[in-house]
This record gives sequence, structure tokens and C-alpha cells, in this order.
Amino acid sequence: MDYDFTTGVNSLEEFWMPFTPQRGFKKKPRMFVSADGMYYKDDQGNDIIDGAGGLWCVNAGHNRPLIKKAVKSQLDVLDYASCFQVGHPTAFRAAKRLVDVMPESITNVFFSNSGSEAVDTALKIARGYWRVKGQAERQVLIGRHRAYHGVGFGGMSVGGIPYIRNTFGALLSSVDHLPHTHNLAEQAFSRGQPEWGGHLADHLEQMIDFHGAETVAGVIIEPVSGSTGVLPPPKGYLEKIRKICDKHDILLIFDEVVTGFGRFGDYSSSSYFGVTPDIICCAKGITNGTVPMGATFVNKEIYGAFMQGPDDTMELMHGYTYSGHPLACAAAIGTLDTFEQDAINDNAKNMMQPFEDALHSLKDKPYVRDIRNCGMLGVIELDEYSDDDHDRWSREAFIDLFYKGVAVRLGKNALVLSPPLILDENHIDHIATSIGEVLQAL
Ligand SMILES: Cc1ncc(COP(=O)(O)O)c(C=O)c1O
Repeated sequence: MDYDFTTGVNSLEEFWMPFTPQRGFKKKPRMFVSADGMYYKDDQGNDIIDGAGGLWCVNAGHNRPLIKKAVKSQLDVLDYASCFQVGHPTAFRAAKRLVDVMPESITNVFFSNSGSEAVDTALKIARGYWRVKGQAERQVLIGRHRAYHGVGFGGMSVGGIPYIRNTFGALLSSVDHLPHTHNLAEQAFSRGQPEWGGHLADHLEQMIDFHGAETVAGVIIEPVSGSTGVLPPPKGYLEKIRKICDKHDILLIFDEVVTGFGRFGDYSSSSYFGVTPDIICCAKGITNGTVPMGATFVNKEIYGAFMQGPDDTMELMHGYTYSGHPLACAAAIGTLDTFEQDAINDNAKNMMQPFEDALHSLKDKPYVRDIRNCGMLGVIELDEYSDDDHDRWSREAFIDLFYKGVAVRLGKNALVLSPPLILDENHIDHIATSIGEVLQAL
């Protein structure tokens, strides 16, 4: 197919796009060609406000000078060096800076290239931890229904979104899933964490009893399930999960790929929820989306357990060619500098209430069956269109919004919001008003 826009694209055929209906998209492409601050520009010259922070990753806004400078300077000096038995200063500087902003108990970080890899790394560390502690029978990994932990075989296995898991045959064994926490009848239009549902954490106790605590390695939880449509944890839920893990000496992993780096006014959402896990997975916002990076943070007990035997023992048989890539590490440092310079965490905290109010003002718009928000994450969930075309309302709203100059993330029957955290009340108002107008006109 010829495609004669000014961007120089003359064929759309070859690129097999991720999580995209190829043929539909290629009939009517939506292309961004530049971005600055809160806005993209499309190939027709239109400004489009970024209501999704890219893909939950551009938390500090687009085109940030300190990040650009850090990456460019790094590229001038050292484009690549391996971190397998050699190293480079930027990786160590980034690790120190990142660990310093994580919860106090976190002492070490393992670098990878994506959220999926950060999760698979965490699962391997959890199982490996018990093995080095002489408890190799602890292998069971517990995830949750409706969880999204990326697309690696590990993440898919503990994840709980059927249409993501089901295409690919057998997954990891020794995996179980807690029920998800969403219940429309009990929780619809809750503001922030729902009152109902804390008791669902008790299922963990039953599951551990079923498998035998001595076989369970870890529990992995998104503090707020993101990709399944922003499910905030019911009040008391995360606290109870932590308590049960402690009781049975089971590792708690938070997948903070979405909830980290500012979404909750801090680098980890554990300060917001008052619950600290043993392992934290990050990606996305860690480099503001500029250079791919995943990071798996662990506490002293976990790192220490691996540091056994002679000094020349390789303690963890795991790593990626690009673990600690110089450009990614430079981007992470530039991101932290940007957060500090612009007090982005403070702005996120200040915007949480206006964001919540704006979203919930859409309650009476057509087809809206639920609105959820937590921190700087939000979703407007719409009715199903018909039995054989469930998500037509949300699909059409997503496209209409794009042509109205608002980019949101399309979820299942849902318009998902995770805007850059540099936004102000005018941006929030613009996004919410546009959604209201689009729903009214559907
Ligand atoms: C909670 C969570 N974990 C893991 C991932 C996977 O990250 P990536 O797409 O960088 O592999 C995502 C991506 O959206 C996510 O939301």
C-alpha cells in the first residue's frame, strides 16, 4: 500500500505492529511525528494531548532537556559496553541513584530492557532465592486473575488476562491465581480505593494452605492492575496480602511497571499504599519512555542470600546483552534529574484530586457504567455494544477522541488515562470535557 505523507513513509506493509489490528490500522493510520510537553503532533500537523503518557511511560512529559542531554552526552562518550564481567560507570551511578529513591529496605537493582523482562527476572530471583537458601521445593508462584505482567512466558503465566494467555499453549507450571478484586455491583463509581473487597486477600491464605506454604516461592501483584482496566486495590487488601506473606515467609513482588515513577507521587507506590514488598519491578517511566529499560529491585535479604561461596562464583545465571545499557542508564539518571528539578512527584500529588473530580464528572454521560481512579491513573468503563461486538463503544470513542485531539489508551470497553504528570488543571479539564463530548455524540 502506498502511503504518501510527508514523513517519507511509502509502505505500511512490512511492520508487524504490536497489540494492533494490522489491517484496520493500515487502512487509516494514526501517526505521531513529534512531541513536546503534554502534546504530540500528528502527520497532519494537529496537536494531540497525550492522555496516556505514551503507554503509561512518559510520566515527565515529552522532549525533556535533561534526559536528552544525558543520553546525547553518553552516546558521545560510550555507546555500548557489556555488564557481563566488565562494567561502565553510568550503570553504577544509575543503580545508586535509583536504589536511593526506592523504599528504604531496597538495596539492589538488576537491569533489563522492559517490564516483561523485569517481571521474568523477579520470578527467577524469587525461585532462585529459595534454592540458594536450601528450600528448592518452594517453586509455586501466585499471580492474580486480570493481572498483566507482560508477554514473556513467566509474566504470561502469572498474568491473568485470558485473551493474552490463551493463544500460546502450555505456560509455566506451579502457578496459581488469586481472584481479581473488581466487582461492579459493590464498587461502581468508587473514588480511589473501594471500600468493598479487602476480604478477597483471604483467598491467599486458602491458596497457601492448599499448596503448602513450604512450596510457595512468591506472590506477584500489581498494586493497581493497569492494563486490565485500572483496578484499584480495595482498602486493606494490600496490607492483608503483606501480612499473609510475612506469616508464611513468602516473597511479595510488586509489579510497579505502571504504578512506579510518579503515578502515585513517589518513585514507588508503596509509600502511597503503606505496604512495602520484597521485590519491585519497574520499567516504562524509569527512563520516561525514551530508552527501553527494565529494573528489578530487591531488598538486602534477597541480594545477600545470593552472595555466597568464593568471590569468583557467578551468583545469578541471568542477564541480558543490554542489562545496564549505557544509554538507558543515562536516560534513567536524566529522568531522576527531571523529576527533581520540576518537583514532578509533588505535582502528581497536587493533581490527584482535580483528576478524580474531572473523571467522576462524566458519570452521567451515555454508556458510562463505571469510573475508577487511583493516584494519577483513571478509567472510564463503557457498556458493551452487543454480544458479538463487545467493545464497539470504546473503540469508536477512542478513535473519535484521537481526531478531536486527545490520545487515550484503549482498554477492553474502557478509555484509560495515565497522563504525563506535568499536567495542570486546564489539561485535565480539556481531556475530561473532550471525553464527555465524544460520548455524547457516539
Ligand atoms: C504491570 C505491567 N507489567 C509488565 C508490563 C510489561 O512491560 P513491557 O511492555 O515493557 O514488557 C506492563 C506493560 O504494560 C505492565 O503494565
